[in-house]
Amino acid sequence: MKHILINADVIEGLRKLPDKSVHTVVTSPPYWALRDYGIDGQLGLESTVDEYLRKMVEAFREVKRVLRDDGTLWLNLGDKYSTSNPVGRGDTELMYPKNSARLRRGSFRRDKEDVIPNRFFRYDLPEKNLMLIPARVAIALQNDGWIIRSEIIWHKPNAMPESVTDRPTKVHEQVFLFSKNPRYFYDAEAVKQEQTGNSHPRGNGGNPKSADPKSKIRANSSFQDALSKSFKLPNGRNLRTVWTIATQSRADAHFATFPDELARRCILAGTSENGCCPHCGAQWERIVQAEGGTIGHGWKPSCSCEGNIPIPCTVLDPFGGSGTVADISREQNRSSILIEINPDYIDLQKQRLRINEQLDTGICSIEVIKV
Ligand SMILES: C[S@@+](CC[C@H](N)C(=O)[O-])C[C@H]1O[C@@H](n2cnc3c(N)ncnc32)[C@H](O)[C@@H]1O
Repeated sequence: MKHILINADVIEGLRKLPDKSVHTVVTSPPYWALRDYGIDGQLGLESTVDEYLRKMVEAFREVKRVLRDDGTLWLNLGDKYSTSNPVGRGDTELMYPKNSARLRRGSFRRDKEDVIPNRFFRYDLPEKNLMLIPARVAIALQNDGWIIRSEIIWHKPNAMPESVTDRPTKVHEQVFLFSKNPRYFYDAEAVKQEQTGNSHPRGNGGNPKSADPKSKIRANSSFQDALSKSFKLPNGRNLRTVWTIATQSRADAHFATFPDELARRCILAGTSENGCCPHCGAQWERIVQAEGGTIGHGWKPSCSCEGNIPIPCTVLDPFGGSGTVADISREQNRSSILIEINPDYIDLQKQRLRINEQLDTGICSIEVIKV
């Protein structure tokens, strides 16, 4: 298992990576006009949404190049209301790693001087408009050739209260699942959910067993044993599009990072637990149906290369932040590549990987590249 941390602008960093070399991309880019990561060249501080969309399309075009043809992109984005206030509530807040060298030197301070006033941004909409930025980004990427496979609502049960009385309090963000092609790797079994007991029967007269294409296999106990090894939740239901996951804040980073569980779901569905071919990168597939009446084991290769002894799949986060994607990739025995413009965050990523690696006594290598 290998973790590569690239300190670079997203496009520069991506240009270092070969074509079609990563299996899935899990990322949360800077949201528009929300946070200042305290470094020149950062994304998210464009003066108009259109400029932001243009840069996002450009970055994700490069992501598409490095993603395998059967790969997926999981993209988390938050929204923003337009405002007419030149300063005040809604100002962009400085986000910087706590204890970073720059903060200690005092060159960045969390006070008014570090806040970018709203007058810096041109909203081009009457005030108080929900700008639908996640949808605009998704459509821009769709127009650039990505296939939108799902819009997931990340419901935050512990969302910050809002002092609003003329609209409902917002407690969600979006995660879009994109693919490059209509057929792609997706391990539905790895992310199955517990049955809630009130699931809706699908035109089968209310008999859940006969609705299930695998019910015949499950009825046979010898198959049951073999298959149960490859099923996370043999009787679970397909992952739903609303994910209730509490936000997690880290002691060492100012901004709310990806919750571990959010990254984990994307990584589990987007890459093979059993790894990939060391020659062509094709992922091993979970066997979910009996073939020819017997099942030898729970995984099969998806290529015909000789000497296919699987190696860990690779997950990319081109906006690495505090390194959640690398850390959960490590936890799940996947390799990872992170790109991050701010060197202080690279330090954070390295520390996080090292600390957790020691705790797990796992074996992984960490390589830091400065572009
Ligand atoms: C929303 S945060 C990512 C948080 C991350 N998912 C985590 O769990 O910690 C976005 C990150 O993108 C980085 N960033 C901003 N502009 C960038 C650019 N042009 N190239 C690479 N990284 C950039 C910021 O420094 C910030 O760390």
